[in-house]
Amino acid sequence: MFALTDRTSTLKQPPFTFAITEELLATYGSPLYVYQSDVLRRTIARITNAISYPQTQFCFASVTNGNIALLQIFQACGWGLHANTPGDIYLGIKAGFAPKNIVYSGSNLHRSEMEQVLRWGVTTLNLDSLSQLQLCCEVYQFLRENQQVLAPPRLGLRLNLPELTGDSRIGVRSTEFLEAISIAKAAGLKLSGLHFYRGTGTNSTAAFTQVIDTVIAICQQLPDWEYLDFGGGFGYPYRGGTAFDWELFGAELTDRINQLDRPIELIIEPGRSAVAGCATLLARVVSTKWQEAKQIVGVDTTVANISVPSVHGGYREICTWNCQDSLHLTDVCGNTTYSRDYLGKNCQLPALAVGEILAILDVGAYGYAMSSHFLHRPRPAEVLLENSQHRLIRRREDYRILLANQVF
Ligand SMILES: Cc1ncc(COP(=O)(O)O)c(C=O)c1O
Repeated sequence: MFALTDRTSTLKQPPFTFAITEELLATYGSPLYVYQSDVLRRTIARITNAISYPQTQFCFASVTNGNIALLQIFQACGWGLHANTPGDIYLGIKAGFAPKNIVYSGSNLHRSEMEQVLRWGVTTLNLDSLSQLQLCCEVYQFLRENQQVLAPPRLGLRLNLPELTGDSRIGVRSTEFLEAISIAKAAGLKLSGLHFYRGTGTNSTAAFTQVIDTVIAICQQLPDWEYLDFGGGFGYPYRGGTAFDWELFGAELTDRINQLDRPIELIIEPGRSAVAGCATLLARVVSTKWQEAKQIVGVDTTVANISVPSVHGGYREICTWNCQDSLHLTDVCGNTTYSRDYLGKNCQLPALAVGEILAILDVGAYGYAMSSHFLHRPRPAEVLLENSQHRLIRRREDYRILLANQVF
């Protein structure tokens, strides 16, 4: 075993005490997703306060995390919900969001799904193609003729701007606006919004601030323009370093919108940036071995329980409560023989023993939400830590889940 670095140079500290960690694992088992409500509330407050423009509606993008207990925290903090799919809307309504506070910006619904979205009472819809706009208008007219829909929806388009976001499948070009306006008009509706999405995990603040003027200029091509939805996509500093500067972004966006000759509504729908940092995945070491200088640590979780570098790209810091000074090059491996089952590669960790606990940090976004039954490992439980109290917010699965819906 060779010490490769001094511990103080690299390791992040675990987010809560060893005593709480042991209590959590003794109560709920391992592996375990732990969410810290104080961290989440602080992040929500920081993002909310960063944009002073008064007509701003924040909507949490629940594609990143659909746990009802967390959605309820966003709701209690005055945020709405951003829905990517009808499933997001379903969860949002179950969490208590009023449909008028749910913004749908998704793609490729078939007719019955569009009907469901409108029947649920969602009134802001950002559509991804003229064909989806046409479908939405037809379904709205059908429901209205049958007196099954109350308020006319507020329609927007997702914007496709190759010069800003490169080659993207999402959205409609500005050359299609005239046709879009006439589709909406034929159904007695207005096209009043545009939705811009920078692309997920964009850490550069300038990547957003530099495009504000262009996006606003395009919005002004819509005669009935009432709202701008600026996404989504704000990065999270998984590796430390420079974080997305909410205050700078908020100041620049507010300044530009304040210069308009009429008030518009601003929608901001953060996902990753709001929820990534409040969660930790705890796992226990179940096996150790050495390959020359490298420590190979096996843990009781897997890449199917969380999206990790080896499968989805990205990076999640792994840390321990073990305080030894010597650190070793370490691969942290999942509990399957899938060749990409690495929770972390080339980490710097102390020599670990079976039974020790590792904390995989910043797993609140696209973590549980992207977990799967690939490799046939049931999913972990989820727990919320609130004012030093903890409570289960999703049960651990057992093997019966692997049979659910199978017919044999
Ligand atoms: C339209 C839209 N808004 C917001 C989000 C959330 O993005 P992020 O987690 O990068 O903020 C997504 C993610 O897919 C999205 O498609």
